[in-house]
Amino acid sequence: MNPALYEAALERISGLFGEDATGHDVRHTLRVYRMAMRLADAEGADRELVGLAAMLHDADDPKLFDSGDGLPNARAFMAEQGIGSAQTEAVCTIIDEVSFSKNGGKRPSTVEGMVVQDADRLDAIGAIGIARTFAFGGNRGQPIHDPDRDTGTSIAHFHEKLLKLKDLMNTEEARRIAEERHRYMEAFLEEFHEEWNGHR
Ligand code: ADP
Ligand code: NI
Repeated sequence: MNPALYEAALERISGLFGEDATGHDVRHTLRVYRMAMRLADAEGADRELVGLAAMLHDADDPKLFDSGDGLPNARAFMAEQGIGSAQTEAVCTIIDEVSFSKNGGKRPSTVEGMVVQDADRLDAIGAIGIARTFAFGGNRGQPIHDPDRDTGTSIAHFHEKLLKLKDLMNTEEARRIAEERHRYMEAFLEEFHEEWNGHR
């Protein structure tokens, strides 16, 4: 992605996210961008589309903004930057398909969508995923753990979602990275329960 466009996107998302502490900060987007570009190279995906979609993938997240349907923040940015309508539509399709809820759990229809989705999911697992989970849980006021509950705690979220992500990766390279990060989470959970139960 050309440096001027990257800088402009960075400035826009910094303005949109501000000091958000729910795990959707600018740094999340930049990690997703970097990983998506790496996966794009491994898969031979279009770097311009992947770059734009990664930078804008949370710019209209309904959990953060009530910008409404149709990705208005992403579209406004691309219009200002003179991105053509075919490319804009392609980027919007990628963003829509990355979201699990909007896409009904289906696989993205393009390789570009697959790599951005993988990059977003990789950021939810491993050491960073662990950190984001407790940050999100704390922000929501939910407990770290409650042995009597299998939902509504941060530890429960590992079982509800995070431990499932490695089997949902679309690309080979992402699967390889996910397997390492998955093992790290399993080791963390084992140690967590050992300490919780007074065994260490
Ligand atoms: P994204 O849209 O970037 O994939 P989400 O909005 O689903 O991510 O969640 C942001 C971060 O918060 C992720 O790391 C996710 O695992 C974590 N998270 C989401 N829901 C919960 C929850 N109920 N408890 C703890 N962490 C959560
Ligand atoms: Ni994201």
